[in-house]
Amino acid sequence: PSAALDLKEAILQLKKEKNAVILAHNYQTGDIQDIADYVGDSLGLAYQAKDTDADVICFCGVHFMAETAKIVNPTKTVVLPDKDAGCSLEQSCPGPELEAFLKEHADKNYYVIAYINCSAHVKALCDVICTSGNAVKIVNKAPADRPILFVPDENLGAWVMEQTGRKMDLWKGNCYVHVEFTRESINKIKAEYPDALVVAHPECTQAVRLLADEVCSTEKMVTYCKEAPVKNIIVVTESGMLNRLRKEAPDKNLIAGPTDRCACADCRYMKMNTLEKLHDCLLNLSPQVELPENIRKRAEAPLLKMLEQSK
Ligand code: 13P
Ligand code: SF4
Repeated sequence: PSAALDLKEAILQLKKEKNAVILAHNYQTGDIQDIADYVGDSLGLAYQAKDTDADVICFCGVHFMAETAKIVNPTKTVVLPDKDAGCSLEQSCPGPELEAFLKEHADKNYYVIAYINCSAHVKALCDVICTSGNAVKIVNKAPADRPILFVPDENLGAWVMEQTGRKMDLWKGNCYVHVEFTRESINKIKAEYPDALVVAHPECTQAVRLLADEVCSTEKMVTYCKEAPVKNIIVVTESGMLNRLRKEAPDKNLIAGPTDRCACADCRYMKMNTLEKLHDCLLNLSPQVELPENIRKRAEAPLLKMLEQSK
């Protein structure tokens, strides 16, 4: 325990020395969440990154999140504990493939909406960005006279279509963690806790979303669990979320949604970050996010548009 304490002390000391802010996603491990200045969903983190006056942003999440912070803060140093922390959604939509698709379908004059879980190259090719927290709002604000292409998450896209009644063409990508939950695995845990409410992330498949009492972003899950009129709540998303929820809603019995194979679902990318790597990236100011200025500039416009439209 004293070594862990020393490490925490050292991180706090480095944070002061470098005038750094630590931003962490809701899926990070408890020790990282505990030391962060702000813990939240992709939307909250994007606003925090935009508004900070720190010199260094230390982003504990996955690469596209740190990249987003850099897009809106080109002059700041953005570091992340592990530069290999990717995302299956980002990988499912490579920039050159989307570029070729848009060229091939130029006659459609698509209004392209990109879920924030994508590379800067993809962001640079789209009209506006959204997160799970504002996707319905952003789609509702899309021009009525243009067809929408929604990339890269087909499950979030399908959910937004259900919510808005707006038809969209969907890129065939998904989150490898959230598609592991099945109707069977959720029904099984529901049978164990018959009075429980179920809250699920919109990256889950429709079969799973249909079993949920509420479908929402990770940040909205916090409010939902705090205000829920029952004690037992089944949380169908990545396991790190339980760290945040147990802190914020200590009076609730929060049950991790199981998959067919495991009692809960971990994102191997989110879990690449450790307190040790967090310490080292602050100490060495490395690895850093770096972006070609032409891509950064083109990716910034749809991101700022999202931040404006979701106020
Ligand atoms: P949230 O924006 O809801 O936190 O989702 C991010 C994510 O990666 C979900 O898998
Ligand atoms: Fe990407 Fe899924 Fe991991 Fe979120 S949980 S970072 S969407 S792979």
